[in-house]
Amino acid sequence: MPRKDRAPVIVIDGPAGAGKSTVAREVARRFGLPFLDTGAIYRAITLIMTRDGIPPTDSPELRGKLREFYISFSGVEVFAFGENVTAAIRTPEIDSLVSPYSALPVVRESLLEIQRAQMSRGLVAEGRDMGTVVFPDADVKIFLTASPETRARRRFDERIAKGETADYGEILRQVNERDAIDSTRDIAPLKAAEDAAMLDTTGMSLEDVVSSVIRLAGG
Ligand code: DC
Repeated sequence: MPRKDRAPVIVIDGPAGAGKSTVAREVARRFGLPFLDTGAIYRAITLIMTRDGIPPTDSPELRGKLREFYISFSGVEVFAFGENVTAAIRTPEIDSLVSPYSALPVVRESLLEIQRAQMSRGLVAEGRDMGTVVFPDADVKIFLTASPETRARRRFDERIAKGETADYGEILRQVNERDAIDSTRDIAPLKAAEDAAMLDTTGMSLEDVVSSVIRLAGG
């Protein structure tokens, strides 16, 4: 690990379905560090806003809700305003609604502090702009990619494993659509930090990816 004077911050960015969550969670476990899934925060915001009928535009209602917003984590569970939303934020509906909310500057701005507040004990954080915007001084920055087909296949397999029905063609279409919105938005677009190590996980097993990330992190 490069710095010894404070707990390490390891960040993993990349597009939907590149395996960031699974890999980051496992890397956190092996280093004994907290894990932060920032996609879950954007998903929770999306759930709360859509439930309250607040559209993805900068409005007094949206700002008011953002000011009140409260999120907490316990292991793999996510709580918004104290309610366990772990399953509710991972539905196809939230998948299709999350990008427009996460493209709003007011949303990203208000989530900056929430994310940074988690790093006092070091962490492994994953998302889209960890290395570029949220933790630009991270000790280790990794950008995970995989072909759109591989990423769609992983999402498809996850849904089937959960006993849900899934349409591979539709998932691939959504993966491409989400990539397009996330990488072309004006604020904090999905892109690798200049000092990030790039890792293409197409054709790699989870264990291989985890070992590569741990090696890159100096472990
Ligand atoms: O990683 P995920 O699929 O759970 O992320 C859900 C959405 O949240 C994704 O479409 C883009 C957005 N997101 C973001 O804009 N910035 C982050 N740091 C993490 C996620």
